[in-house]
Formats: sequence, C-alpha cells, structure tokens
Amino acid sequence: RSQEVLAYRSGGNAIRTEEDYADVNWDEIGFGLMPTDYMYVMKCSQDEKFSCGELNRYGNIELSPSSGVLNYGQGLFEGMKAYRKVDGGLLLFRPEENAQRLKFGAERMCMPSPSTEQFINAVKQTVVANKRWVPPPGKGSLYIRPLLIGTGAILGLAPAPNYTFLIYASPVGNYFKEGLAPLNLVIEDEFHRAIPGGTGGIKTIANYAPVLKAQTRAKSNGFSDVLYLDSVKKKYLEEVSSCNVFVVKGNVISTPSTEGTILSGITRKSIIDLARNYGYQVEERPIPVTELTHADEVFCTGTAVIVAPVGSITYQGKRFEYKTGLGAVSQKLYSTLTAIQTGLIKDKMGWTVEI
Ligand code: COI
Repeated sequence: RSQEVLAYRSGGNAIRTEEDYADVNWDEIGFGLMPTDYMYVMKCSQDEKFSCGELNRYGNIELSPSSGVLNYGQGLFEGMKAYRKVDGGLLLFRPEENAQRLKFGAERMCMPSPSTEQFINAVKQTVVANKRWVPPPGKGSLYIRPLLIGTGAILGLAPAPNYTFLIYASPVGNYFKEGLAPLNLVIEDEFHRAIPGGTGGIKTIANYAPVLKAQTRAKSNGFSDVLYLDSVKKKYLEEVSSCNVFVVKGNVISTPSTEGTILSGITRKSIIDLARNYGYQVEERPIPVTELTHADEVFCTGTAVIVAPVGSITYQGKRFEYKTGLGAVSQKLYSTLTAIQTGLIKDKMGWTVEI
C-alpha cells in the first residue's frame, strides 16, 4: 500500500484520506470475507456470567479439538450491519434486537449469553476499532458477525464447560452474485430446513450447513437459491436458505408466521412495520405454495440480503414469474429501509443507533 496519503473525491464532494479508509476498491465488494483489523472476544464458564471482553487483533482462534462447538454444533451467530452516513457518522440498525435474539437462542442451546448492554457495547467497540473498513456512503456496509460458541472441551454429549462470545466484521456489498437483480428461486421437495420442535427459529450454526446440499444443487441448475417448504405437510412456504420470504397480492403482503421453524428476521420485522405504515395489510400466516401461482410479487428479506426481489420461482418443473423493478412494492420497501439504515431520511421508528 502506498505510504503517501491518498486523497481522492467521493460522490463529487468529500475528500477522503488513507487514514479514513482501508485500501479497498469499494466499487467491487461483494459478500466475501475481507479480514479487518480487530475482533472482540469475551469468555466465561458454564456457571459464570460473561464479563471483561477485549479487542484483539483479528486472527485465528485456538480451539480444543473436543470443544462443544466442533463436536456437537453448540453455537449461535448473529448478523448485523454498520453503515457510514454522508456526514461521516456510523449507524447500527436495531442492535438490541440481535442481542435479544442471541439470548433467546442461547437459552435453547443451553449456553450462557452476554447481557444486551454487553452485546451492544461489544458491537460498538468492534465497529469503532474497524472504522476504516466501513464502506463510504452508498458503497455497502460493515457486516458484523457475533458468534457465541461452546469452546470448552467435552467428550460425552452435554453443554460445554466454557463459552466464547466473539465478534468479527467484514465490509460487504450485495449478498447475491445477481447484485440487485431479481432472484430465481427453486422450491425444494426432498430436503427441509427445519422441523417443529427443532431449532429453525433460532440462529444456530447447525441450521445452515444442512441447506448446503440443496443450495449447491440449485445453483448448479442455474437458480439463485432454494425456497423451503414445511417438513410436515410439505405444503406451506418456510424461508429461503439465508432469508425470509414475503408474497404480495394486491394490497395484502403475507409472510410465513414464525412458529418455531422460521427465523424471526429483524429485517422481516422491520419490513412488516414499514409496509403497514405504507397502508398495506400485512398477514403473518401459513402460506400454501399454491398461492405462488397468482401472486403479484415475491421478495426476500434478511440482514445480508436486505430486500431482494424474486423474479421467478420454479416448483415441480413449473416456473412462476413476478413483477420486479420500478414501482414494485419490494423496491419501495427496499428504498425506505436502506434510507433509514444509512441515515438518508429521518428515522421516525427509532431503529438506528449512532456510534
Ligand atoms: C444474515 O442475513 O445476516 C444472515 O445471518 C444470513 C447468513 C447466511 C448470511
């Protein structure tokens, strides 16, 4: 990297210097890991509370081969983003929601969890320490990945004796290689993402590897990703591998109700509120797959994905196509949500937290 201070113009006005920004081609970032400077680490034992975390240089961690997370998948993760505003300030989006979701998941996975205050404080410290990796306004965000994992050694199946709460971050752009172009989904008949009484409703690492087979097959057949059906009746929409799904018909926007098998997405929850503010009737309910035949629009939501329009869904060899682009409901909701997240419009919902 050049030693001289780089001064260059962004968006025609602000001059940025090398101290403000890491040496990254911000126009080319996708959703790949770009290691940043620091990660946050906090540890505790099974019968302690978390206390005294610290920032360490980003790097590999040491783990017992018999740790709970490696052997029995005792782990949770979160996904959040920090955006840089045009005035240079940094914004988090609803971080207390992530803290609470982690706590809920930790209870299900028999793990201790950080308090909401510890969680938010740790996230803020991680973002500030990695500030030069937060993309310029309009070029993406700093994706923040909190992990809660059983790091203690255990051989028989039981909760691990020790836990680590860790946060790392990476600058990101669009999640899908399609960019903002509409997704082409395929409905999976053979594999399911979650079962009633299982862990589909929490963000455990154990929910994600099982989708890889169906996802890989879908991608090799030219699809963007997989839309899963419920595992009991094989009839109702659940979610996509990494995001929630919404179906639009006239003034009604529907999304599968979260009853244990569907992740309570924070973007999902926010989009429901924004859509209601716009005057749409939003229904959280079981959605039969047959409704896809006459839907106007389908879109996905998630922290990584934000709001992604769906151009087509293929089910049992039949392809259904949907409206996307200018004038689409998903476009309107995407614009409003991202304007709030990036501080472009006033946050009347009280969702953003300035660092
Ligand atoms: C997110 O949207 O933040 C997630 O955690 C999904 C992940 C598979 C990228």
